[in-house]
Formats: sequence, structure tokens, C-alpha cells
Amino acid sequence: MRKNMERKYQNLCKPITIGNVTFRNRMFSAPMGGTDITADGCIGPKSAAFYELRGRGGAAAVTVSECMVHPSTDGSHAYHLDTRILNSLAAAAYAADAIRRHGAIPSLELSHSGMFAGTYMT
Ligand SMILES: Cc1cc2nc3c(=O)[nH]c(=O)nc-3n(C[C@H](O)[C@H](O)[C@H](O)COP(=O)(O)O)c2cc1C
Repeated sequence: MRKNMERKYQNLCKPITIGNVTFRNRMFSAPMGGTDITADGCIGPKSAAFYELRGRGGAAAVTVSECMVHPSTDGSHAYHLDTRILNSLAAAAYAADAIRRHGAIPSLELSHSGMFAGTYMT
């Protein structure tokens, strides 16, 4: 079974360099929204710990989710990250450090809610 997997996905565990960034393998952790985004739109400590665990688990890159590219016209739920907040850079740096200390590359999903912007569905 393992041998079949290795044959089928021969490159999965090999490092890859894209631009000037080297990833330790080809497994990237997809963006998953944190549920303790603070009321003012920053990454809370539990979310940072959640992302850190993905890095510790061996992912090559860990994607922190849903940072609004245009906060004044976005907002479709309560878990967006808001770069207008003074503390957001410090919170993002804390999360990035937590991911990086395990050898994973931190990445950030930039998003806009499009037709759902401003609806605050949840
Ligand atoms: C708990 C959870 C939270 C998610 N949050 C986001 C999110 O914030 N932004 C996003 O683009 N996708 C989000 N997704 C979707 C995932 O990024 C991914 O596209 C989806 O799980 C399908 O990938 P998979 O087939 O590898 O599971 C989330 C998925 C899960 C399970």
C-alpha cells in the first residue's frame, strides 16, 4: 500500500522551490477560518495555536484564512481579519512565527466576499 502511494505520488514529500521560497514538501494546508478571531478582527491565541499545529504536523505551508482586501466594502461573517486594526499586524506576526518555528511557510488568504459583502450572514 505504502509502496503504491510512493509510486503514485513520487513528488509529494520532496521539497519544491517556488520563486525564492523553498517548501519542505508539496502538502499545503488549505485556509480554515479561526473561530476565535477577536471582536476587532485579529487572529486570537486559539486560532494561532490551531495554525501552529498544522505546521507542527508537517504541512509545507499553512494558510491563515480570510484577510479582507477591502474591509470597508467587505464583511459577510464575523471571522474576517481586518488589517485596519492596529493590533492586526502583531497578531499576524505572532501566528506566522508560530507556524514558522516548525519549518512550515506561513501564507495568508486574501479575500473579498463579492456579492455577499456587507451581508454578515452568520
Ligand atoms: C473547518 C473549515 C474551515 C474552512 N474555512 C475556509 C476559509 O476560511 N476560507 C476558505 O477559502 N476555505 C475554507 N475552507 C475550505 C478549505 O480551505 C478547503 O477548500 C476545503 O476543505 C476542501 O479541501 P479538501 O478537499 O482538501 O478538504 C474551510 C474548510 C473547513 C473544513
